[in-house]
Amino acid sequence: MRNFKNRYYKRFRMELDLRRWSAPEVRCCSDYRLLSWSPELVEAHGEVKFLSFCDELDAVVFPCFSQQASCVRLMREIADKDGFIPEATWLAEYVGAGERLTEYCGTIQAIRVSRHKANLQNIGVTPLHRGRGVAKALLTAALAGLQQVGVSRASLEVTAENHQAVSLYRQTGFRSVKTLYKAVEPVVPANPAAAV
Ligand SMILES: CC(C)(COP(=O)(O)OP(=O)(O)OC[C@H]1O[C@@H](n2cnc3c(N)ncnc32)[C@H](O)[C@@H]1OP(=O)(O)O)[C@@H](O)C(=O)NCCC(=O)NCCS
Repeated sequence: MRNFKNRYYKRFRMELDLRRWSAPEVRCCSDYRLLSWSPELVEAHGEVKFLSFCDELDAVVFPCFSQQASCVRLMREIADKDGFIPEATWLAEYVGAGERLTEYCGTIQAIRVSRHKANLQNIGVTPLHRGRGVAKALLTAALAGLQQVGVSRASLEVTAENHQAVSLYRQTGFRSVKTLYKAVEPVVPANPAAAV
C-alpha cells in the first residue's frame, strides 16, 4: 500500500544587507538583454516562470509551477500586490539569433513586505539558456532596483536541495538566516485503494 503522508522539504530563508552591497560588474553575454517591467509583459513573465520551473524540484514543492495557466495567474497576482516593485522586476530576452527570433528566457520579481525589506520571488531561467550568466544578471538588476527604491534588506526562500540556486545566492552575498520545512501533500489518486 502506498504511503500518503506529507513530505517535508527543507528550505532556507536567506537575506542580504543592501546597505553593504554594491552591484558587481556583471558580464551577461551580449546574446541577452534585460527588459524592465511593463504590464504588457505579465504573460511573458508567467510563461517563462512555467518553462523555468515545470520540470524542477520546486514544481513538486509548489505544484502551481507545474501549469502554465497557474504561473500566469501567479504573475498577475504578484503584479497586482500593493508591495509589487516594478524596479526590481526584470525579464531576460535572448537576442543572439537576431531581432526576429528573440525569445524570453528569464524572470525575477520582488515584493516589499515592510518599509525597508523586500522578498525576491521566483527567479527562473529556461533550461536552454542556463549557465550563461542570465540569473546572475537578473539578480543583480533586481537588487540594484531594490536599492534604488530604498529597500535595505533583501530576503528570499530557497529549497535546500536546489544547489544551483543556493550557490547563486551565496555567491551574490545572501546568507542563510533560518531553516524552514515546507509540507507537501501527496497527490492522492482518484482511487487510492488501487494504488498498491
Ligand atoms: C537557478 C537558476 C536560476 C540559475 O540560472 P542560470 O542562468 O543558469 O545561472 P547563471 O548562469 O547566472 O549562474 C549563476 C551562478 O549560479 C550557480 N549555478 C548555476 N548553475 C549551476 C550548476 N549547474 N551547478 C552549480 N551552480 C550553478 C553558480 O553559483 C553560478 O555562478 P558561476 O557561474 O560563477 O559559478 C536556474 O538553474 C533555474 O532557473 N532553475 C530552476 C528554477 C529555480 O529553481 N529557481 C530558483 C528558485 S529559489
